Amino acid sequence: MEAVQGAGVVVTGAGGGIGAALARRFAAEGARVVVNDLDADKAKAVAEEIGGIAVPGDASAIVPEARDALGGTVDVYCANAGVGSGGSEAAGESVWALAWDVNVMAHVRAAEALVPEWLERGSGRFVSTVSAAGLLTMIGAAPYSVTKHGAYAFAEWLSLTYRHRGIKVHAICPQGVRTDMLDSTGSAGDLVLKPTAIEPQDVAEALFQGIEEDRFLILPHPEVAGFYQARAGDPDRWLTHMNHLQQKWEAAQ
Ligand SMILES: NC(=O)c1ccc[n+]([C@@H]2O[C@H](COP(=O)([O-])OP(=O)(O)OC[C@H]3O[C@@H](n4cnc5c(N)ncnc54)[C@H](O)[C@@H]3O)[C@@H](O)[C@H]2O)c1
Repeated sequence: MEAVQGAGVVVTGAGGGIGAALARRFAAEGARVVVNDLDADKAKAVAEEIGGIAVPGDASAIVPEARDALGGTVDVYCANAGVGSGGSEAAGESVWALAWDVNVMAHVRAAEALVPEWLERGSGRFVSTVSAAGLLTMIGAAPYSVTKHGAYAFAEWLSLTYRHRGIKVHAICPQGVRTDMLDSTGSAGDLVLKPTAIEPQDVAEALFQGIEEDRFLILPHPEVAGFYQARAGDPDRWLTHMNHLQQKWEAAQ
């Protein structure tokens, strides 16, 4: 694809799952790809496979090193690393703090590091792997649902603030995707996500279609558009429906 041919691309959390699929697809489309992951061995393995560059570490702090690795310029940044963080209001301070840090603040910190140079150049692309939980809500996972709403809100804010200045933003909001994270969602994931789960490469395909069509909202599961409308159109009806799902989940445990 012309828009990414030769581009310098960073994908966080790309040692496996959706991030690895994004890294593979960007490389296949002719981009130069930095593969980040907290797990250095996984980052190196994917980088080796696709002819990319591994920059392991916490996604919150990798922009300077990634920029150097790409010869001084990051054209596309995929804020993909995330933590699944299930639990309720009582999940605990450390669970909530980690979810905020990885699912939201890592995006904010990356944008802080990248936006000035993108505004100067008049171009840049920020891809946020959010989740359908950022548009809807995942039963049994308060920290995840809340922080994914935050990630979506931040992507929206970036887009509406800078779209006339050359910065493009995409928010990817899938339901279940067959990765390690899906396996860790337990019985709630089994009930809600697994029946319609897709492959990580389907998410990459949806992103590339969205880039081609210059769309902000990327829905690898198209039915999410209807659920999102239903929530906005009649919140109480939607909450009653979701509560039925909650009760079904409780009964199955
Ligand atoms: N799998 C799903 O069903 C699903 C659905 C919607 C959205 N998502 C989102 O997709 C993204 C990728 O998840 P996945 O399903 O591929 O999960 P995954 O567990 O397969 O991959 C996540 C990767 O991120 C890495 N990581 C975690 N914290 C990190 C950090 N601070 N810095 C760098 N790397 C870090 C992990 O080591 C792991 O390799 C996440 O943001 C997730 O919330 C997943």
